[in-house]
Amino acid sequence: MAKLWGGRFTKETDTLVHNFNASLSFDKKFYEQDIRGSKAHVTMLAKQGILKEEEKNDILNGLDSIQKDIENGTLHFTEEYEDIHSFVEAHLTERIGDAGKKLHTGRSRNDQVALDMKLYTRDEIDETDGLLKKLLEEILSIMKANTDTYMPGFTHLQKAQPITLAHHFGAYFEMFKRDRGRLYDIRKRMNECPLGAGALAGTTYPLDREYTAQLLDFDCATCNSLDSVSDRDYLIEFLSAGATIMMHLSRFCEEIILWNSNEYQFVEIDDSYSTGSSIMPQKKNPDIAELIRGKTGRVYGALMSGLTTMKGLPLAYNKDMQEDKELTFDAIDTIKGCISLFTGMIASMKFHKEKMEESAKGGFTNATDAADYLVRHGMPFRDAHSIIGQIVLFCIEKKISLEDMTLEEFQAISPVFASDIYEAISLKTCVEKRNTIGGPGKEAMKQVIEKNEAYLKKERFIGK
Ligand code: ARG
Repeated sequence: MAKLWGGRFTKETDTLVHNFNASLSFDKKFYEQDIRGSKAHVTMLAKQGILKEEEKNDILNGLDSIQKDIENGTLHFTEEYEDIHSFVEAHLTERIGDAGKKLHTGRSRNDQVALDMKLYTRDEIDETDGLLKKLLEEILSIMKANTDTYMPGFTHLQKAQPITLAHHFGAYFEMFKRDRGRLYDIRKRMNECPLGAGALAGTTYPLDREYTAQLLDFDCATCNSLDSVSDRDYLIEFLSAGATIMMHLSRFCEEIILWNSNEYQFVEIDDSYSTGSSIMPQKKNPDIAELIRGKTGRVYGALMSGLTTMKGLPLAYNKDMQEDKELTFDAIDTIKGCISLFTGMIASMKFHKEKMEESAKGGFTNATDAADYLVRHGMPFRDAHSIIGQIVLFCIEKKISLEDMTLEEFQAISPVFASDIYEAISLKTCVEKRNTIGGPGKEAMKQVIEKNEAYLKKERFIGK
């Protein structure tokens, strides 16, 4: 197969070299973006008088027919082509003749691939954002239904203080909301069009780069042609945001795996999101949650790979940059797949509210509130802490909870205790009294839920 650059060469490329060098097997993924970019480019060339109107029309029609045939399965990506750019150009020339050869006027594959990758990433950012929004909607609906569902809050994986399921899910709402914020920032920063930078030093044709940028929904053209062809910052930023999304999903999965275990029984993952064991008939395993946790490493790997690929590259384009694609594509598909699956998993999960409440009652999660009771009666907090410590020890020995103690037992340790201690340390009081902004109390949660609702209503999908 003739290469785009065959003129200067006297020998055929070695087959192993061709295969090693080729990228079609993976950059075919952005054929749509490649064609979209080419259409904008020729439209601009015609506006500038560099191409004739009928040449432009022939090229546009040819590109449309190529896209149609790829999509209806009649045009196949065959391996004699080096990359998606050569593939499209060769088929265009085959279909429309000499006009096809003019497509590449004032353009290099360096600014072309920079554009394609940017368009692809930008599209994927928008899709990821949409998936995160759906996840947030699901989290919010679980929050709304569970402002009274008491459960233990943990530190060091030890029961600490009682909270509600709404409060716990609310923590993840904040994380995924920040993730969307990161995507929004990246999209805004990356939205400059590299096309027209040429190989590295621009071109002598009178291109209207701002017009091309406008046709492709960019805010403006990039300012430095060397940077334009060698910038992959936006990819690294996206992979970093994606790694953070995965880290959040992975933490959430870890908790769900624990909660779904026999020991906790806080939740039950639906049959449709679980798998069985080939040997142990009783098993119902949380494989999906485990796989999401496991796949997090892959996305971190893509981020490290991107950073490492770029770290030693002199300006401007170097072929190393072709390595930006495979792991990125894999990471993006992984991130999107994991968000969708996770959303489906929590939407179909059962919450065992009574188990959570029972667990919140154990483990002395009301000990801080008992100390606060003494403080309200004028005792310094440090002394109160020590007295409640003694009471906890007493209860551990008797194998009872604080609220199981008689008033006489309380008073034997401190005369400050009165009969209202029971109300002060009830689970309901412990949760409901915590109404500072961001706390689990009903009033505080109501405000946060309203805020989240407004956020999901107001916040438009980025980009569109
Ligand atoms: N397949 C190449 C890549 O992905 C396209 C750019 C090729 N440019 C070049 N000067 N060889 O980076």
